[in-house]
Amino acid sequence: MDPVRNPYAPGAGQRPPELAGRDREIAQFEVVLERIARHRPERSIVLTGRRDVGKTVLRTRFRSMARQRLWVTGKIEARPEQSIRRPVASALHMAVRELAPRHRAPERIDHFLGVLKAFSMRSPATPKGSVSATLGIDVPAARGRADSGDLEIDLTELLTDAASVAADLGVGIALFIDEMQDVPAPDVSALCAACHELSQSGGPLIVVGAGLPHLPSVLSASKSYSERLFRYASIDRLDRPAADYALLAPARREGADFEADALDALYAAADGYPYFVQAYGKVTWDVAAASPVTAKDVQVAGPVAAGELAVGFFGSRYERATPAEREYMRAMAVLGDDPVQTAQVAEELGRKPSSVSPARDSLIKKGLIYSSERGLIAFTVPHFGRFLRAQPA
Ligand SMILES: Nc1ncnc2c1ncn2[C@@H]1O[C@H](COP(=O)(O)OP(=O)(O)OP(=O)(O)O)[C@@H](O)[C@H]1O
Ligand SMILES: [Mg+2]
Repeated sequence: MDPVRNPYAPGAGQRPPELAGRDREIAQFEVVLERIARHRPERSIVLTGRRDVGKTVLRTRFRSMARQRLWVTGKIEARPEQSIRRPVASALHMAVRELAPRHRAPERIDHFLGVLKAFSMRSPATPKGSVSATLGIDVPAARGRADSGDLEIDLTELLTDAASVAADLGVGIALFIDEMQDVPAPDVSALCAACHELSQSGGPLIVVGAGLPHLPSVLSASKSYSERLFRYASIDRLDRPAADYALLAPARREGADFEADALDALYAAADGYPYFVQAYGKVTWDVAAASPVTAKDVQVAGPVAAGELAVGFFGSRYERATPAEREYMRAMAVLGDDPVQTAQVAEELGRKPSSVSPARDSLIKKGLIYSSERGLIAFTVPHFGRFLRAQPA
């Protein structure tokens, strides 16, 4: 069918033509926004899930929901070993700049910008006075607020002040943190403390985190009360009706349809994983001569889509691994698709656990595997084990 009208969108963070199967999370977020608007205590939200299940696109939807209420938003992507001080400062800078033209008291904005500048200038990584330290803010840095150098205190004060500026206008601020498992431990602890404080003061600012499945344990390792602080939503593969809907709704908008056994075949291939739904849907559309799409079309498209995934989706990640890490992942793959014991992986490699743990740790850092439970590890990328087993040794 006409490739120009192909609606499917495989790609990291690519907005899907239909955000299927996430109604519950969307409804929950609506409630959260409404509660905060009414100064009710509310927990921050954390989305967790493996790679490419749709955390980022759900976060993008949350963002537009907040904006519909005239809230302002900021977003950061955490990186290992990078303090969140600077990224949080620039995210809030963006958010408050958006608020400024609507605000009736410019001195309130200027005061906040002064606090923000002081907060940002405390960043150890950037040279004092540089544009990146001052964020290019031209009001003088405030003193005695958010500038102690202790991130826990400073972040709490900064977020409280940001919330109060938004409250002047009867709106709120949503701060999104992607790849939250990469936030360094001391910063996680500071962030938890700040969220705790905000939830108690009822300030209209919410932190929405997203990250890999072990994020809850990262958070609770740093603050024991984190379980009560965050509302966790785990995002996973789509069930059959949702996966069908993800394919059908966009097709029907283009006047096309799928035969029932074509949908069966697509579900068997994509296994409900959002990225694969898009990838197989896209190739199948291009292969099909006419609507309705048949199982035969899917049969022809399958190997093409799988080939594309092997190169772009799996291959590009495999390439990021060192030889030792690849060896480690291959051993994991041999042991199956469920989480495996790290001791077993070492045994499979015929090595002592201590000698393979550097490879394991660096794979965790690269976000290719995660520890689902103590002593157990699993691939973050769906079907990665299957891909590795299909590779020539
Ligand atoms: N609910 C959904 N319905 C249909 N397609 C979806 C859905 N969620 C995500 N997708 C598609 O899946 C792909 C991956 O989505 P996204 O980048 O949000 O995943 P992610 O969880 O953030 O991945 P990562 O962990 O690598 O950052 C995109 O192509 C997107 O269009
Ligand atoms: Mg993402």
